Amino acid sequence: MSFNIDFENCGGIFSLPEFEEYRLRAVRAHEKLLTGAGEGSDMTLWHELPRITGEKELAEIKECAAEIQKTSDAFILIGIGGSYAGARGAIEFVKGRSYNLTAKDTPRIFYSGCDLSPDSINTVIDLTRDCDYSLNVVSKSGTTLEPALAFKIFYELMTKRYGESGAAKRIYVTTDPKKGVLRELSKKRGYRAFDVPPGVGGRYSVLTPVGLLPMAVCGVDIDEVMRGARDAYADFLNPDFDKNLCLMYAAARNYLYSREGKCVEIFASFEPGLHAFGEWLKQLFAESEGKNRGGIFPVFSAFSTDLHSIGQYIQDGAKNQFETIIWPKEPISDITVSKNNTGDGLSYLSGMKLSEINRYAMISSASAHRDGGVPNLTISFTRADAYSYGYLVYFFEKACALSGYILGVNPFDQPGVEAYKRYMRKLLKKPDA
Ligand code: PA5
Repeated sequence: MSFNIDFENCGGIFSLPEFEEYRLRAVRAHEKLLTGAGEGSDMTLWHELPRITGEKELAEIKECAAEIQKTSDAFILIGIGGSYAGARGAIEFVKGRSYNLTAKDTPRIFYSGCDLSPDSINTVIDLTRDCDYSLNVVSKSGTTLEPALAFKIFYELMTKRYGESGAAKRIYVTTDPKKGVLRELSKKRGYRAFDVPPGVGGRYSVLTPVGLLPMAVCGVDIDEVMRGARDAYADFLNPDFDKNLCLMYAAARNYLYSREGKCVEIFASFEPGLHAFGEWLKQLFAESEGKNRGGIFPVFSAFSTDLHSIGQYIQDGAKNQFETIIWPKEPISDITVSKNNTGDGLSYLSGMKLSEINRYAMISSASAHRDGGVPNLTISFTRADAYSYGYLVYFFEKACALSGYILGVNPFDQPGVEAYKRYMRKLLKKPDA
């Protein structure tokens, strides 16, 4: 696969004398990660997943996915944050945003437990009322309120509909291998349960059953996902800064942040199928880096749509951003503009492929934003398929971990998310609050 990063629009930062420090910091961060000398090193098993995940584990997931495909027209994935964002990212990346409308031999997927809106739960209830469905509740801790509540609601509905033992055959749990309420319930009620390995945190867990089971259910080739991740593992192991794009990206974004005041990273894509992947990126980077009153604030922009909204701000607004464009070089499908003169003023485009026009939009916005003081880099890869997804996931996970170390934070904890929960527990009068 041809993976590359074009740093051309970053103002030649790599040759600046001040960049040297970031080069060294990236190399040191890499050593820390590989030797386990960095903060949170007990949570770095994700780094080894491409190497240690065996065929047996993948076969078990595929066998379970086949069973779900056989018995279910719909599949409800209950989880929040790292327990759902990666799976959704993968399914839309590979199968497109309209997967539910185009799926033929695989179940439609509905997401629940990723908010507290009664409307969103009621919508999933309505949409699954007349079809057979299975459910996968994913929660490493088992105590997260949103998925716990959604599971309670669907467990009761499923028990009413399928009976206790019928429901148990349709409920799949992904949680801590030993502890937590979900592990206990799965033992007591006989649910099929998968493990979130203890050394892997939520947002780094997409290459475990957390992400792989829902992907397989929706027909994403998980062997290919893991092959992509394995290749990325090998490609980004090189300690030589100039030969390791992961180190270069981590160093560049930290340089732009601390030397040029670019505290917002806009992940941009010109493919709607990459939107959910962008949401996963936001979660990965924000929870990993936003600490000690610092860190780069990640946002996702869907171009060219957003060029007609926040594009104005990017071009002419405050100059605190840089852009990371995620660019699949080959589209999954294409359309050629007809040569018929239909009087619409578009004859200058006749015979052009839409993918070519989309590429010109990417190049033009990158140039215009650079001219407007927004440095940008383009991460390109062959096409949005299962292999590339695995490759990109591993690349970004590693880049995020390295960036955290360069920044001087523990990229594997998330103490800040507890603050609102404390208020909520009080408001809800939770007994042990
Ligand atoms: O990255 C993280 O650790 C978080 O985003 C968690 O995935 C999220 O809070 C859900 O946690 P849990 O899987 O314990 O329900």
